[in-house]
Amino acid sequence: MTELTLTQMATEVLTTADGRAKTALSHQHAATWFAARAEGRTIPVGTATPPDMPARPARPELLAPRDVPRRRPGSPQGRIALVHAVAHIELNAVDLHWDIIARFGHVPMPMGFYDDWVKAADEESKHFNLMCDCLEAMDSHYGALPAHAGMWRAAEDTAQDLLGRLAVVPMVLEARGLDVTPGMIEIFRKANDDATVAALNVIYAEEVGHVAYGSKWFHFLCGRHDLDPKDVFHDLVRTYFHGALKPPFNEEKRAEAGIPPDFYWPLADQTPPRRG
Ligand SMILES: [Fe+2]
Ligand SMILES: [Fe+2]
Repeated sequence: MTELTLTQMATEVLTTADGRAKTALSHQHAATWFAARAEGRTIPVGTATPPDMPARPARPELLAPRDVPRRRPGSPQGRIALVHAVAHIELNAVDLHWDIIARFGHVPMPMGFYDDWVKAADEESKHFNLMCDCLEAMDSHYGALPAHAGMWRAAEDTAQDLLGRLAVVPMVLEARGLDVTPGMIEIFRKANDDATVAALNVIYAEEVGHVAYGSKWFHFLCGRHDLDPKDVFHDLVRTYFHGALKPPFNEEKRAEAGIPPDFYWPLADQTPPRRG
């Protein structure tokens, strides 16, 4: 059997529609990549042609964000809707992390770049499955509710621009996850749903790493091209991200992930609170 290149593995995940099948393949390819690395061997990165949009299951139905029904977060139905929305984000994240590998295979990068995104994709696969398990424990499942269309927009907009992809996906969208997850954990804590609290805590801890990978490789590429990271970040986010960033920001976790306040506050729709 000929060994797949890393970009071929990524493309296989992207073209698998079913969520549980996609994440199983993602785990399998990540294990193959890291087993080779542990043996001191590197699987060739190669180049591949990933699909413009990843394959997705027939359900959930994808609706414009304004058409997705809102439910009270305090109610059991509201909590199901919240977990369903997170599951959808996690499935999208699996594809985003494999897509950055497949889409930019032609850009020469150190092996650590691939290690980081394979690990992130592996973790997103676990996150999706955790959220599916939580939904099933609540007598629901992924696909039972409509979900946001347009989550692939950031990937499409930055398909030609690796720096833009790093700025918008890990450093804006995944960093936003750090801002909102503590509030979500609180909702499930109040509902005494310990299993969902535990799952969200795993996600929260691991997402700091994904934002940090984004910041690391963004700074690496800025250094390679002799660019000022903060100025370039502002330009790229204004080019590719639609709308202002929304405070309050999780300044502590953002700092832990290597994103300082002067990166995000100038892009916010408010000025920072005055501090002594
Ligand atoms: Fe995640
Ligand atoms: Fe992530």
